[in-house]
Amino acid sequence: MSGYHFLFVPGPSNVPAAVQQAIHCPMEDHRNPTIPDLIMPINEDLKKILLTKTGRVVFFPSSGTGCWEAALQSTLNMGDKVLGASFGQFSMLWLDMCKRLGFEPITMEEEWGTGANPENYHKHLSADKNHEIKAVLVCQNETATGVRSDVKAIRKVLDDLNHPALLMVDGVSSVASYEFKMEEWGVDCVVSGSQKGFMLPAGLGILGVSQKAIEKMKESTYPTCYFDVVDMMAKLDGGYLPYTPPVNLLRGFRVAIDLILKEGIENIWKRHHRLAEGTRQAITNGWGLNLCAKEEKWYSDTVSAIVVPDGADAVPVISTAFHKYNLALGAGLAKVAGKVFRIGHLGDLNECMLFGAISGAEMAMIDNGIKVEPGSGAAAASKYWTENPGDK
Ligand SMILES: Cc1ncc(COP(=O)(O)O)c(C=O)c1O
Repeated sequence: MSGYHFLFVPGPSNVPAAVQQAIHCPMEDHRNPTIPDLIMPINEDLKKILLTKTGRVVFFPSSGTGCWEAALQSTLNMGDKVLGASFGQFSMLWLDMCKRLGFEPITMEEEWGTGANPENYHKHLSADKNHEIKAVLVCQNETATGVRSDVKAIRKVLDDLNHPALLMVDGVSSVASYEFKMEEWGVDCVVSGSQKGFMLPAGLGILGVSQKAIEKMKESTYPTCYFDVVDMMAKLDGGYLPYTPPVNLLRGFRVAIDLILKEGIENIWKRHHRLAEGTRQAITNGWGLNLCAKEEKWYSDTVSAIVVPDGADAVPVISTAFHKYNLALGAGLAKVAGKVFRIGHLGDLNECMLFGAISGAEMAMIDNGIKVEPGSGAAAASKYWTENPGDK
């Protein structure tokens, strides 16, 4: 098909040309003496993105899922209770992993389209007088439904109750895109991945750990090997990894981090908010459709899940967009399969790129008999973006 491919799934996101060029390099000896000059500054700079001074950031040659595992296995013990809310494919899968790894998850089911409910965390944690719950899990951005949860509010619940459980956050589709403050919010473990806000291909799992989490690692007897965070920290201190790292991805990581630091993390948050808001205007005011996220407080600045009208099917919309318009939209997952399609608005992105996604999705809907006014999505987004020019 001629023209650009428009990649608008909520990760992998677009990889900037400078990052692509950095990755496109000859293979090199991963133990050569210059490797620490690459790895050690990356480690330090990641703290500026996660916003922690006292915590540590490590990365594994894995996707984000690997760091879910690393966080749990390195800090907890077999059979430990963990508390988490399930309101979409990813928040559900993390709790499922807890079960499969031999922990004891207490799952709070929330309606899909809503997020983590601090009152329910409070209910369980206040009843846990013996502090048997060792970790509290929160998915900050549920990518399946386009829902953001309030991590700060869950921290407050823990603080108000003086509960010592570790606070673990899934920031796979929020970190480096919208507000996340590891230290200020008292987050003990935060998990992310390279293929979203970090604007890289998949292949690096990123994990931030607090000093409290590091202390807990000393008490953990859970058997770990590949995902042993203590081993990883020790090797990274010397500038290497315990095993063969994807050095070309790390070369790209260096450039991606430089781009992030140059734009400034708070500017990135603002840009994502503005782009997300314009996209939401297209969906609601332009097309007259609903977001899967039920209320404004849940709106995600990295992904919008769009509910197709009753009787319509989102699957052929996604297929038409892909085959006819060279546009990749995100599918509805699990409970919302066929009911929603998703536009990812994260990473290396601007208004004109998003017009491609909005107009392509609009044409694909019209082709499949969904009644939306041609041009209405772009018109609503254009109105918002021109009336709200941001800091440019
Ligand atoms: C919120 C969230 N958590 C976890 C994951 C799993 O990450 P990965 O696919 O990098 O293993 C994803 C993937 O999209 C996600 O969106």
